Amino acid sequence: MDALVEVSGLTKRYGDTLAVDGVDLRVLPGEVYGFLGPNGAGKTTTLRILTGLIAPTSGRVRVLGGTPGRPDVLGKTGSMIESPAFYPYLSGLDNLRLLAEYAEVPRHRVDEVLDLVDLRERSRDRFSAYSLGMKQRLGVAAALLKDPELVILDEPTNGLDPAGMRDMRRLIRELGSDGRTVLLSSHLLGEVQQICDRVGIIDAGRMVAEHHVEDLRGEQELLIRAAPRESAHSVLSGLLGADAVHRYDDMLRVQVDPARAADLNRALVEAGIAVSELHTSERALEDVFFQLTTTGAKSDVG
Ligand SMILES: Nc1ncnc2c1ncn2[C@@H]1O[C@H](COP(=O)(O)OP(=O)(O)OP(=O)(O)O)[C@@H](O)[C@H]1O
Ligand SMILES: [Mg+2]
Repeated sequence: MDALVEVSGLTKRYGDTLAVDGVDLRVLPGEVYGFLGPNGAGKTTTLRILTGLIAPTSGRVRVLGGTPGRPDVLGKTGSMIESPAFYPYLSGLDNLRLLAEYAEVPRHRVDEVLDLVDLRERSRDRFSAYSLGMKQRLGVAAALLKDPELVILDEPTNGLDPAGMRDMRRLIRELGSDGRTVLLSSHLLGEVQQICDRVGIIDAGRMVAEHHVEDLRGEQELLIRAAPRESAHSVLSGLLGADAVHRYDDMLRVQVDPARAADLNRALVEAGIAVSELHTSERALEDVFFQLTTTGAKSDVG
């Protein structure tokens, strides 16, 4: 599958600061990709490069098969990077109409995006009278005007209250299930876990991990240390199917309801296999995140 965003060896230097340090990143069509990292990790800088707002120091960047910022690429990308800029004295509606005119987007599209972000009722109010949540929603509406294939959102829930966050998360999931590709940044683990298909974790300018969100959750699994391991593998595969049993370090990782632990232990022992360890594994994204970003103590997040 061709990636919509393809980044390799990306760096961005500001004087002595290496804001982005050799980042590799691929975003596939139709996925919601979360770019997760603490403050100062390099998220915004990377997204600015992807939208052509700033140039990289080095590295290869392709967005929708082209160079970021080029008209053909811009036409298919919608973005909201940091606080969206609108005319404060104009209504949300008029702001969008202006942008639509600029982008040569048909006027009816303005109503469509206002509906998508659920802002139609307040669309005639001045932008300056909007709450933060409404401002963010208007920013997303503007990003959607061109009916883009790729939507890039920098911290879309930043500053929102819990209800506003929930609405924004719902909106982003809708965009994703609508066949659009979404790349968003966040410093909130739970949020990424709820919205995204895949997550890339960045810390101090470096990508430290990239995972499918389900792989990180791994709620329903058992870790088993047994000898000989290959015999244990075949006994468990026979009981649960080969798809449920994976080799993991020197153990076996078994996708099964943890309530069956005693059963499986008995089956292994009856087959003459020594079980030295058997426990449930709940590797929450949060654990992974802290493990990856606080070792080395470079992170400035608590
Ligand atoms: N224009 C700039 N000039 C100098 N340094 C910059 C500039 N923009 C970013 N930086 C530095 O680059 C690093 C990465 O910043 P960036 O804004 O990309 O982080 P971030 O992950 O978006 O953080 P946050 O979660 O706080 O938004 C920081 O050390 C920051 O101070
Ligand atoms: Mg940022």
